[in-house]
Amino acid sequence: MVVEQRLGYVASVCSDGTANLSPQGTVAVWDDRHLVFAHIHSHQTVANIEAGHVVVEVNVVDPIRRNGYRFKGPAEVHREGDLYDAGAEFFQRRSGLDRRRIRAIVLIRVERAAAVLSPSYDDGSSEADIEQRFLALYGLRRAEPQAGGEDGGADASATGALDADHTGLGIAVPVRGLFETHLTVTDLERSMTFYREVVGLQVALEVPERGAAFHWIGRPGQAMLGLWSIGSAPVGMQLHIAFEMSLPDVLAAPEQLAAQGIQPLSFFAEPADEPSVIGWMPAAAVYFRDPDGHLIEYLAMLEGPARPELGIVPWSRRAG
Ligand SMILES: Cc1cc2nc3c(=O)[nH]c(=O)nc-3n(C[C@H](O)[C@H](O)[C@H](O)COP(=O)(O)O)c2cc1C
Repeated sequence: MVVEQRLGYVASVCSDGTANLSPQGTVAVWDDRHLVFAHIHSHQTVANIEAGHVVVEVNVVDPIRRNGYRFKGPAEVHREGDLYDAGAEFFQRRSGLDRRRIRAIVLIRVERAAAVLSPSYDDGSSEADIEQRFLALYGLRRAEPQAGGEDGGADASATGALDADHTGLGIAVPVRGLFETHLTVTDLERSMTFYREVVGLQVALEVPERGAAFHWIGRPGQAMLGLWSIGSAPVGMQLHIAFEMSLPDVLAAPEQLAAQGIQPLSFFAEPADEPSVIGWMPAAAVYFRDPDGHLIEYLAMLEGPARPELGIVPWSRRAG
């Protein structure tokens, strides 16, 4: 919920005892026990914490599904040091937020967490019913979530993707992502069946005279995989590509692949029934081979700071 919404309301207490409520679009999950947000313009909230009113309450609500969570606990303001550096790096990586704009990273230890539900559910409506009702109320349709979009961050739609300084070093980076990649295959039909039925890609264009087939990755027009037949050529190369997925899908992938008769693999290409966690990214990933032995990966970036000290471990050992 926190990861998806990227907007929380932080309540703190002023020295005269009055309440202070401040929206924070950088609210993020830091680890199992902490939330963070970036102090860019939240002077009063931070002043309240630094004046000793350390306990804050954060509400994160899905305005369409009309549910959410409230979190409560003491906050710490980090204007420098390791936590500041790790937090600034996290927001830089997540959305291109320039660390020079971050006055402090506020770390909140969650001592109480509770779900909040709108009275709209009182009549027994399901989440899907409520979602439909409130999408209609706002004249919206549910679409694929888009990357970026951090309050204060270098959101391409707000700043213009081509001249945005994503590096924080004064270097403009016009490249926004990887659009296409290509693999050689020995049997085009067999590989097309594999990428359609196992990976779920949609054929975009077949060019039989060139022994090629292009597939959309994600939505049509989002990204592309080209498969090129090399037939019975006695040489070939085994390559590696990764498809981005949601975390729940990556977690479900080993069982899903096994059910399709595909052996799920760890980062070390050994049989595995759970994802590998790559600490330095941090990411969760499941691997498998396509009919030509190309190593295919399903990957989800994880919230929270990089944990290079973790190395690469099975998902069940990520806490250690
Ligand atoms: C949608 C939204 C998201 C915001 N996100 C942040 C944020 O992540 N960090 C921040 O410092 N200010 C953010 N702001 C601005 C603060 O909420 C605003 O400056 C507020 O008045 C600060 O109140 P305070 O000084 O009482 O903390 C956001 C404002 C809005 C409307």
